[in-house]
Amino acid sequence: MKKNIVLIGFMGSGKSSVGIKLAKALDYQFIDTDAYIEEKSGSSIAKIFQDQGESYFRDLESSCLLDLGRTRDRCVISTGGGMPLREENAKLLAKLGHVVFLKASEKVIYERLKEDESRPLLQGSNPRGKIKELLEFRTPIYEGVAHSIISTDHQSFYQIIKSIMDGLPSHFL
Ligand code: S3P
Repeated sequence: MKKNIVLIGFMGSGKSSVGIKLAKALDYQFIDTDAYIEEKSGSSIAKIFQDQGESYFRDLESSCLLDLGRTRDRCVISTGGGMPLREENAKLLAKLGHVVFLKASEKVIYERLKEDESRPLLQGSNPRGKIKELLEFRTPIYEGVAHSIISTDHQSFYQIIKSIMDGLPSHFL
């Protein structure tokens, strides 16, 4: 069984910043699926959405998971917020390793992302409403895929990383 730790959750829930620190603490390699896709395609996520559309981006996410499943072990993998939406991706995620849902509230996510221009899904006229709508739809999906769920609201990196490590199955130790 693979010993990757896979972080899932909404945009702004802390997957990348927690992932980098967790990888360092465990001496694991850190991989961010958005960065992986950008590097492979030679294009930014925003440009992929703009030129080819969301569905094409989701195809790239599926290919990325297949690649990582074939080639990676002992990595911390931070995923894009929509990664578990496709059923096939949800299955690939579970095969990749221990899946942790980093959960953040609508208010905290909005505060973190209100000035951000890099997330194409939140560039409309009502980003707070969009966050609410997407969170309501996605939260049960994140919960269904995750092996453990950790709240990141008002938690220090130290607390979050400790909670993740405490929840790792025995074959990681
Ligand atoms: C998305 C989240 C983004 C990125 C893309 C789509 C989503 O990643 O993959 O903009 O559908 O929630 P982050 O969660 O790292 O922001």
